[in-house]
Amino acid sequence: MPKNVYIYTFGCQMNIHDSEKMIGLLSENGYALTENPENADLIIFNTCAIREKAEQKFYSQLGRAKILKKKNKDLKIVAAGCVAQAAKEKIFQKAPFVDYILGPQNIHMINDLLSRKQGIATGENHNIALNEFTAGRQSNIKAWVSIMYGCNNFCSYCIVPYTRGREVSRPSSSIKAEIKELARQGYQEVTLLGQNVNSYQSDIGFVDLLKQIDDVYPGRVRFVTSHPRDFSVDLINAISELESLCEHIHLPLQSGSDSVLKAMNRGYAYEEYRKKIALLRDKIPNIAITTDIISGFPGETDEDYLDTVTALKEIEFDGIFAFKYSKRSGTKACEMPGQIPDQIKSERLACILSLQEDITFKKNKALEGSIQEVLIEGPSATDPHMLSGRTRTNKIVTSPNSSEKIGSVVSIRIQKARRHSLHGVNVSTETVLAAEQ
Ligand code: SAH
Ligand code: SF4
Ligand code: F3S
Repeated sequence: MPKNVYIYTFGCQMNIHDSEKMIGLLSENGYALTENPENADLIIFNTCAIREKAEQKFYSQLGRAKILKKKNKDLKIVAAGCVAQAAKEKIFQKAPFVDYILGPQNIHMINDLLSRKQGIATGENHNIALNEFTAGRQSNIKAWVSIMYGCNNFCSYCIVPYTRGREVSRPSSSIKAEIKELARQGYQEVTLLGQNVNSYQSDIGFVDLLKQIDDVYPGRVRFVTSHPRDFSVDLINAISELESLCEHIHLPLQSGSDSVLKAMNRGYAYEEYRKKIALLRDKIPNIAITTDIISGFPGETDEDYLDTVTALKEIEFDGIFAFKYSKRSGTKACEMPGQIPDQIKSERLACILSLQEDITFKKNKALEGSIQEVLIEGPSATDPHMLSGRTRTNKIVTSPNSSEKIGSVVSIRIQKARRHSLHGVNVSTETVLAAEQ
């Protein structure tokens, strides 16, 4: 009888992919993935510590696992991911029914850990870039590929350098071998993962890695996340020249105010950021640009907040992820004076989000009538009669199901812009329809 594992995954793409790596390792150890935690012999919480809310989500789900464990004494529970790494054995004190604690730098040890009665693996793993995984991927169209681990930037608000350790890059040969295999298996898109992909450095640097991937991979290539400080002209040229690279960049600005950027330890001023965007748009006019914004960083004045508003109006991002600043213990900003009351953080965030809603809608409207190359990913989540896919610029497009194959790339004429997606019709079926009339 195979054993069943259920995984809760919180947080970023890196965690999603770490879960896939754990699924791969566990399947070698006789586990099958289940969609129902009630049927599980093993429950893994792959947690996120980026903001307090993310951490709370984990603790509230953990309560449900405790109830399941009362019913099934043999159920084993793993706390993995960034909360596990930050809290370490404190999780055992808080939740004695947890059996194992596994940090993100040690996921290769999961089967070893499970062979023991109880255990914890949260040491710094300097060899993480040399660990090879056969991920149990959850999509057969799009694949995540880790290219580097950790972060050296220590932005003053951020917990990630404490949970993911120092930056280490995977050897290019191993990345290329993985991507060639994905191409062979028919994957249409790969997304290269790292907290700061611009500082990828192994035997070669990031731009050379992209060039070499372009040589061996026929599908679409994306990467997250770029850091504005290290975002180079060479990289801009590569995006404009390499066919595989999609016309979308996620470049977290965080704030439009130079004094806030300085206190955040971001390493760039707003004007430098703006110039890089101008160059990017000059070389790749149709590029989509998205960003992250933090509202209410300690010491943020009304003027600082208005600088962010001005930046959003000037740059006109295609989309943003904006959140209230959240205190993370152990980070510098946590101890800074001038912590902003929650109400002000919320008010500023609401204004930022509503301004961006209008900008995103305007950007989507501008695409009405255009023809977009869309990778069909599956039925639409909101209407199963429709198909959903993404443009090269990473915008969601729905279209009527005219028996396109899932995983195919089709040309779609955009008919209607919505706030968070586009709607259109496959150009080839359009011609058939016209001929029939
Ligand atoms: N490595 C990436 C993103 C890491 S985390 C980068 O440097 O951009 C993703 C986003 O979470 C960050 O861009 C930031 O906007 C947000 N974030 C990180 N720590 C936060 C905190 N303490 N409070 C609120 N938002 C935070
Ligand atoms: Fe966090 Fe900054 Fe590193 Fe991004 S670059 S993970 S925001 S410390
Ligand atoms: Fe969260 Fe860790 Fe990712 S804190 S955002 S899961 S790196």
